[in-house]
Amino acid sequence: MNNNINNRKTDVLVVGGGGREHAIIKKLSDSPRAGRLYAAPGNAGIAALAHCLPVKATDTEGIVAAAKANAVDLVFVAPDDPLMLGTVDRLIQEGIRAFGPKRNAALIEGSKVFSKGLMKKYGIPTASYEVFASSGEALAYIRERDNYPAVIKADGLALGKGAVIAGDFSGAAEAVRSIMDDRVFGESGRHIVVEEFMTGPEVTVLAFTDGKTVIPMVSSQDHKRAQDGDKGLNTGGMGAFSPSLHYTPEIAERCMREIYIPTIKAMAAEGRPFSGVIYFQMMLTQTGPRVVEYNARFGDPEAQVVLPRLKTDLIDIIDAVIDGRLSEIDIEWKEGAAACVVIASGGYPLKYGKGYEISGLESVGNMDNVYVYHAGTSFGDNSAVITAGGRVLGVTAEAATLDAAVELAYKAVSGISFRDMHYRRDIGRTI
Ligand code: AMP
Ligand code: GLY
Repeated sequence: MNNNINNRKTDVLVVGGGGREHAIIKKLSDSPRAGRLYAAPGNAGIAALAHCLPVKATDTEGIVAAAKANAVDLVFVAPDDPLMLGTVDRLIQEGIRAFGPKRNAALIEGSKVFSKGLMKKYGIPTASYEVFASSGEALAYIRERDNYPAVIKADGLALGKGAVIAGDFSGAAEAVRSIMDDRVFGESGRHIVVEEFMTGPEVTVLAFTDGKTVIPMVSSQDHKRAQDGDKGLNTGGMGAFSPSLHYTPEIAERCMREIYIPTIKAMAAEGRPFSGVIYFQMMLTQTGPRVVEYNARFGDPEAQVVLPRLKTDLIDIIDAVIDGRLSEIDIEWKEGAAACVVIASGGYPLKYGKGYEISGLESVGNMDNVYVYHAGTSFGDNSAVITAGGRVLGVTAEAATLDAAVELAYKAVSGISFRDMHYRRDIGRTI
């Protein structure tokens, strides 16, 4: 086991293989305390910094075995699916140090019925809501309520695509039927939440917490829709920037008092202490900040704009979180701003081609204050980097101001190309 009093390096296995995991591994690799780094499964970009193991992120026993075989000091469980599968619980059972919430705390993301109930019970501001277990009852309620837009959400995980904002009854009916009757998100659609439609700017704040202390990171905002002007289908995220210009110190203070601390206390009071990174997505409404949703992990692509701004050693923070002594450390951030433009495969989030060679990575990789995080990439013939997923790359730039960061990120994007590539031109520009 690692301890940071001696000089022994910390060997870390990061579970996952997207842009978020690349950002985590990049930050770990910057630490003088980092030893050998591993990723399961990783990607072509991560391979430059870590040993990529052929183990899927959702293969819990494979992860446990890989952690043992490589005698790592720590496993960082980054994506939602493994957290909900109880990967952290399994690792701890085996005596392996793990970063991330246990399954009973990850439920704050894994079940909207649970998270809405928590907020109601503890008076944490959010949209009012009703829960339904059958499409008939849900539709009767929506018809009776007759108030649009109606917000309909699948209870469980749905790749960030489980929320539908319906402008009229027929749209609402289609959403309810596809989620509950056709089970487009599988068992996640066994229950749905129908909630009040809120308006206002959205902001995301990630926070480190050991279950007692909560330390917010710098704010960020993502762009979920596939096309410019927030048009097109919902995606995992087409870009992000940090900080959010709406998140003033006054709002931050209010969020801390009304949302962050009450949430951490509520989870502890429920016997579900949350340890890891918690993600607060909020809407800044007329009546104040209200929670849109929680996630139990770093966001993707939010991690690609927040982590580059972190000055404090990430391994020190991870140790403090796991050991329940987060109150003892200061976490410092760089001034300025960061912007990340996601380059996706044409057709994403629906059907898209794969296996196309990516050019320009080397020269863009040499640009100052630019970092290209890989999401869906792998190696083709002759070790060329090829596309292997919907979101392919996240091009992050840092600068003194948001405008300058956005401009630099787009300059970097213009140096990269692959067949049918698609990216939004308004990241950080429509806020
Ligand atoms: P979610 O999957 O819960 O993050 O929702 C996806 C997106 O739908 C959010 O980023 C919001 O833009 C929007 N949304 C979710 N819930 C509401 C709500 N109650 N009122 C208005 N917009 C919402
Ligand atoms: N970008 C949204 C998420 O990671 O859930």
